[in-house]
Amino acid sequence: MTKPLKRNKWEDHYARKARKEHFPARSVYKLQEMQKKYRLMKKGDKIIDLGCAPGSWLQYASDVVGHSGQVTGIDIKPLTIRTPENVRYYQIDIFDMDEALFESIGNGYDLVMSDMAPSTTGQKLVDAARSFELCQTALSLAEKVIKPGGAFVCKIFQGESFQVFLESVKKCFNHHKIFKPQSSRKASKEIYIIGTGKK
Ligand SMILES: C[S@@+](CC[C@H](N)C(=O)[O-])C[C@H]1O[C@@H](n2cnc3c(N)ncnc32)[C@H](O)[C@@H]1O
Repeated sequence: MTKPLKRNKWEDHYARKARKEHFPARSVYKLQEMQKKYRLMKKGDKIIDLGCAPGSWLQYASDVVGHSGQVTGIDIKPLTIRTPENVRYYQIDIFDMDEALFESIGNGYDLVMSDMAPSTTGQKLVDAARSFELCQTALSLAEKVIKPGGAFVCKIFQGESFQVFLESVKKCFNHHKIFKPQSSRKASKEIYIIGTGKK
């Protein structure tokens, strides 16, 4: 069952909307904005959602791909949603993924999306460096499992390594976009890099 969102200092329009629409997190609206603008997901797609907990992107993506599609979620934390039929979920630290798990998730994916974020320390350099590590791990997974022509979406905290990561994405994908959703908090350093047309 979907748990109600806690009211806290971040309570805002999107948090209230998420509660009303039964999503466990306001982050769903960032993915919804990307979907409206870039149409990255379609019916029947096979998608990986990295950093999927509590589950709002999973819930939304599962609905878009429908019964003929499949969404695979990975996170260290548990989900707070009931897992839809076309979703499978692995509770694991991305840094601990081994060959057996890669074999289990398989390949031929249309899209790998990562909304992973480190626990923040408040020190911008440290937080950006940790975000960069997560992004690199997400990209190396994406390189292995996305089919040619497929797409990649990755959240990164802007910092010194942003440009380095962008260059790595450009090497693997024919096109790229940089996107800051309206629903992303203005104070947040997060931004999304979108790569399409996997080489
Ligand atoms: C902003 S939340 C994702 C919200 C999610 N997209 C949603 O809509 O419900 C970031 C997630 O990244 C996960 N995360 C951070 N480090 C991770 C790691 N090393 N391995 C797997 N997940 C990680 C966190 O546990 C957290 O659930």
